[in-house]
Amino acid sequence: MTHLVIIGGSGHVGTYLVPRLIEAGYQVTNVSRGQRQPYTPHAAWNSVRPVVIDRAAAEADGTFGPQIRDLRPDIVVDMVCFTLASAQHLVDALRGHVQHFLHCGTVWTHGPSVQVPTTEDQPRRPFGEYGIQKLAIAEYLMDQARRQGFPATALHPGHIVGPGWNPLNPEGHFNPVVFSRLAQGQEVLLPNLGMETVHHVHADDVAQIFIQAIRNWRNAVGEEFHTVSPAAVTLRGYAETVASWFGREANVRCLPWPEWKAQHSENEACFAWDHIAHSPNCSIAKAQRLLGYQPRYTSFQAVYEAVQWLIAQGTVSV
Ligand SMILES: NC(=O)c1ccc[n+]([C@@H]2O[C@H](COP(=O)([O-])OP(=O)(O)OC[C@H]3O[C@@H](n4cnc5c(N)ncnc54)[C@H](OP(=O)(O)O)[C@@H]3O)[C@@H](O)[C@H]2O)c1
Repeated sequence: MTHLVIIGGSGHVGTYLVPRLIEAGYQVTNVSRGQRQPYTPHAAWNSVRPVVIDRAAAEADGTFGPQIRDLRPDIVVDMVCFTLASAQHLVDALRGHVQHFLHCGTVWTHGPSVQVPTTEDQPRRPFGEYGIQKLAIAEYLMDQARRQGFPATALHPGHIVGPGWNPLNPEGHFNPVVFSRLAQGQEVLLPNLGMETVHHVHADDVAQIFIQAIRNWRNAVGEEFHTVSPAAVTLRGYAETVASWFGREANVRCLPWPEWKAQHSENEACFAWDHIAHSPNCSIAKAQRLLGYQPRYTSFQAVYEAVQWLIAQGTVSV
């Protein structure tokens, strides 16, 4: 059996990816701190070997990479790498020891869009420490793959959605009250003209692309792929669509950013600004062509499933 070690496999993506891997016949080891449980129970988890390591602590004493190598993986999926130093430490330990190394990045490796849908080969101008570090990691991995033969692939998700957590909402932040307001016909405030974009992806489609990248090793190594739904949505279109699920017209008022910001909490404004400043709108053509990636969910289908879960929890009232 091919042994796959996933670092951070009990979160949003791992909830879907780990059962898919077990069903596909891989021997799976999940490395985490042992604090999180997958969002959805699945019998496949009985076949997963859990290994408890705190990456931050193990990196601090230089043992993380060697500990992962000592698990003797054929494939490593790294879900939780956020700094270049962290990536370098792991690659140094795994060089020559793995068949495939898959890194989970982000579409935040792009800054502002130029031509949309944005393709992977456009010049990238990230802003904010998260996107800057993620781009540094992706570029380092591509260099290692193309110059040194290290078998790396970087997969870049958009806003990950699924039942079990709050989806990014039509105001561009995570307060689920926006869904209740749309469901009840109450007013929702959109920044600017409501024409900025967000680009979701269902967690199961993120899982799908990891599987497809592993299956299409020749096309995947040394390459980066956007991992998003087939189409981004505007905030206005998103609000209108959510309202329509409840038989309503969206009661939307657009405000210039300073006025919008003044009417929201600091936390909401911080997330909304980050999302509208990026306004991602990414192409999946490369992943479709080279990996056979076929997302099962549109953005709206993915969010619909998440909102149904919020309603069932009593978080969103209709
Ligand atoms: N969320 C989004 O919308 C989004 C969008 C684009 C890209 N991404 C990327 O997606 C990746 C995250 O994937 P996810 O959303 O599936 O993960 P997640 O839901 O945040 O779960 C994190 C996983 O990592 C483990 N973990 C956290 N800290 C750890 C540590 N110090 N040592 C060992 N394990 C640790 C957690 O388990 P324990 O807590 O038990 O350790 C859990 O299994 C990141 O690379 C992020 O940049 C996310």
